Amino acid sequence: MPTIIPQHKIEDIREATNVVELVQGYVTLKQKGQNHFGLCPFHHEKSPSFSVSDAKQIFHCFGCGAGGNVFTFLMRYEGIDFPEAVRFLAQKAGIELELEESDDDIQPKQNEALFHINEFAAKWYHQILMSEEGVKARDYLHERGFTPDEIKKYGLGYAPSAWDKLVKHTQQTTNSLEALTNAGLVSQKKEGGHLDRFRDRIMFPILNLSGRVVAFGGRIIVADKKTAKYINTSETSIYEKGKLLYGLFQNRDQIRQQKFAILVEGYMDLLSLASAGIHNVIASSGTSLTEEQARLLKRYTSKTTVLYDSDLAGKTAAARGADILTANGLEASIASLPSGHDPDSYVREFGADALTKELNAAKSLFDYKLDRLANMSAADQTEGIRSVLSSLAQVKDKIARNILLSKISVQIGISENILWAELEVLLNKQVKDSIRLSGIGERLSDLSKVKKQTRLEKAVEDLIRILISDWSTAEFIFNNINFEDINDFSKTKILEYYKNKFKSGAIILDDDDSIAHYFHDVELSEFIVRELNMKKEDLDYRRWAKECLQTIHETKIKEQLQLLKEDIKQSTGDKTKIKELLQACTALEQKRKEFVVHE
Ligand code: CTP
Ligand code: MN
Repeated sequence: MPTIIPQHKIEDIREATNVVELVQGYVTLKQKGQNHFGLCPFHHEKSPSFSVSDAKQIFHCFGCGAGGNVFTFLMRYEGIDFPEAVRFLAQKAGIELELEESDDDIQPKQNEALFHINEFAAKWYHQILMSEEGVKARDYLHERGFTPDEIKKYGLGYAPSAWDKLVKHTQQTTNSLEALTNAGLVSQKKEGGHLDRFRDRIMFPILNLSGRVVAFGGRIIVADKKTAKYINTSETSIYEKGKLLYGLFQNRDQIRQQKFAILVEGYMDLLSLASAGIHNVIASSGTSLTEEQARLLKRYTSKTTVLYDSDLAGKTAAARGADILTANGLEASIASLPSGHDPDSYVREFGADALTKELNAAKSLFDYKLDRLANMSAADQTEGIRSVLSSLAQVKDKIARNILLSKISVQIGISENILWAELEVLLNKQVKDSIRLSGIGERLSDLSKVKKQTRLEKAVEDLIRILISDWSTAEFIFNNINFEDINDFSKTKILEYYKNKFKSGAIILDDDDSIAHYFHDVELSEFIVRELNMKKEDLDYRRWAKECLQTIHETKIKEQLQLLKEDIKQSTGDKTKIKELLQACTALEQKRKEFVVHE
């Protein structure tokens, strides 16, 4: 999405928001000297190391290193992106964000129109549910045990049983049928005119992380074979099915507080659990869980229990969902319900305490897969065993991994050697994948690539530290640095910021913290705030800078040399080529020796 908010507005919003007041809405703070302290919301701690500075308008945790300004605090805490954080604070501060006309603004305007029409419809569906016309639907929800509080909290509604009530209602307002059509809430008839898409259905508004309605799911009241039980609005520019989790907006605080989430399949399961008082729940809503959903969840918790139907499809989907969670760094377990039950029917029949017991007895993904093996046909078992081994490959502790391997070997009667061979294949693949994912270049050997990466990145970070502590080194650094050598790193942007300051003749004083508000990226802003908060010792910054510049230069030359050497190896026979390559090597060696830092 293009940035549509002008920089001066962002400044206005930041200035209108006090970081201490904002954070106080989430964390209890106590003033101590210049700063306010509290328990860090970003890691678990018993004594407060989370500090908020009124003077600097930033926060910083001495325990886990989290840090930033009002925007990045919200981005981290609420798991929202920068424009969402800006919009939220603008609203709080009463600052109007009028959109300025430009080509880039068309999409945001269309999105705004979609949000608006979805919210308009959600409000109307809810009103209908609460009115005389909604009696049948309300009775149904009541029968299924949904409490009025939950119906309200999730904004449930009812689409009446008629062809065009939403169409007619809309025509009486300033809203357009075109907007309704774009949102997938009505369809155009061939012979002209419009039809309501949802008729005689319970409506579940789907919210994004800013709490705005982006889509609907609708369930028929009386199931029959001819009609689909559920229909959903189609995807639009504000709704991508696999990128949202149903209930996350309402339940993220509970998930954070309870330090784990319960993943169910659908709307009904979630509402039923919520009505029974269990609120740390989200639903994948009919699609199999996606990587994006897993990553989204990981912003709020590192632990998730999958609670799906007890039938075969449910079991398979649960294992797959847990695989995706694990692959995205969450600790996943799977709870099993007695045959014939889904979470909704179970909690209604046996109550919340019984369900909590089942949740506590949830099995690790590994144990779950192992258990399932026992009931599989011989044909399915091969895949089943591979799947168990793939979970085993995720176990980091080698001893634990060995013990588990013996356990499987005994249980399934396959020798440890054979299992080991298969596991090694998976482990090797994992190493390769992680290197591929880390986005490092392709040709150097894996290990040296990682080493080079860390050396260079460390030098970039150190140069930033040096500039923060001693601005007088700026000239020396920027006369000697070659940005092409370090353009792989996000933190290079910080060096570029300083370079521009330096070029424009700015002098950055010791207590100048304006850079803390410059970057809207959580990682960058955190790094800067952490470094600004570091105690500055009297060091020989110039010498340190020289070492960094040398490291960068050396590392780059070594990398080029290694590439040349690999080329030489591959050019056996081609004498002219080898000669050329050797000359290039000598030239590089020379360059390496001659490198001097310009004082
Ligand atoms: N779903 C969907 N579209 C379908 C079928 C299912 O989006 N055609 C999603 C819905 O989010 C639904 C979930 O998959 O909530 C689970 O489906 P199912 O188990 O069939 O429905 P329940 O939620 O259990 O509904 P109920 O208990 O009322 O039958
Ligand atoms: Mn159900």
